[in-house]
Amino acid sequence: MKKLSLLLVTLLSASVLASSALAAGGHGAAVDEVHMNMSDKASLQNGAKIFVNYCLSCHSAEYSRYNRVAEDLEIPLWQLKENLMFTTEKEGDLMKTTMPADDAKAWFGVTPPDLSLVARVRKPDWIYTYLRAFYLDESSPSGWNNSLFENVAMPHAMYELQGVQRVVGKIDSATQEVDSHGKPIAKEGQIIVGDTIFELQHPGKMSSVEFDKAMSDLTAFLSYMGEPAQLKRHTIGVFTIGFLILLMLLCMVLKAEYWRDVH
Ligand code: HEC
Repeated sequence: MKKLSLLLVTLLSASVLASSALAAGGHGAAVDEVHMNMSDKASLQNGAKIFVNYCLSCHSAEYSRYNRVAEDLEIPLWQLKENLMFTTEKEGDLMKTTMPADDAKAWFGVTPPDLSLVARVRKPDWIYTYLRAFYLDESSPSGWNNSLFENVAMPHAMYELQGVQRVVGKIDSATQEVDSHGKPIAKEGQIIVGDTIFELQHPGKMSSVEFDKAMSDLTAFLSYMGEPAQLKRHTIGVFTIGFLILLMLLCMVLKAEYWRDVH
């Protein structure tokens, strides 16, 4: 018995240590919290649209099929064909990039990783911060850099939308003003992403608020791809709780009925 409890304690502390090590992933860098609503179909559809238009040219999502995505996200078939697919693709095809892996390696130095499971490996907050943290850097081979992922090989795929950012500096935690949630407040004309302060050198098609919303939609879509069942799990959960409540009420009525004879 003693040995068993010792084993249990060891296992427990090992798992606590492992989970805290995982939580500290992303090099312990400051990330912004993403607000996603996985039951908001419009948000997920928008994420899918951005993914297909801005990411699929380099990255695949080889565990996802177009028709499964359309079904889960309630995208009508005509819209799927018109907005999300190239004319040569079929509904049941996997979401594969058309860029040959060897060419990609030659161009970027690394093959862009498959993004099917990226939200499980990197966590949504990390992705949301990463996508907003690209800045102009003439010294890098692609002309871009990223304050969360230094010397990243990925160019800024969405500069047309976000605009072109330039680094002003890092946040000084001693003097930085924060709001009631502890979130740093950006000065007029500045944008704070993670622990870095940026300024827009060229504006994009979207305002910074619009771009943040688009990136939370995209992060929600990547998170859905990592675990498609999560959309249904919530509904199943609600039904299960509802059923249990109903069962409890029935049991209470039954108990009252039985005890009436005893008293
Ligand atoms: C021009 C090609 C290109 C496009 C377009 C592109 N990426 Fe990338 N991406 C890359 C490359 C190359 C890497 C590998 C970076 C490295 O390891 O230095 C990468 C890495 C990433 C990573 C980090 C993966 C990891 O865990 O290390 C994420 C997340 C990511 N891309 C998301 C996106 C999203 C979302 C889009 C669409 C908005 C997108 N990318 C568009 C080329 C691209």
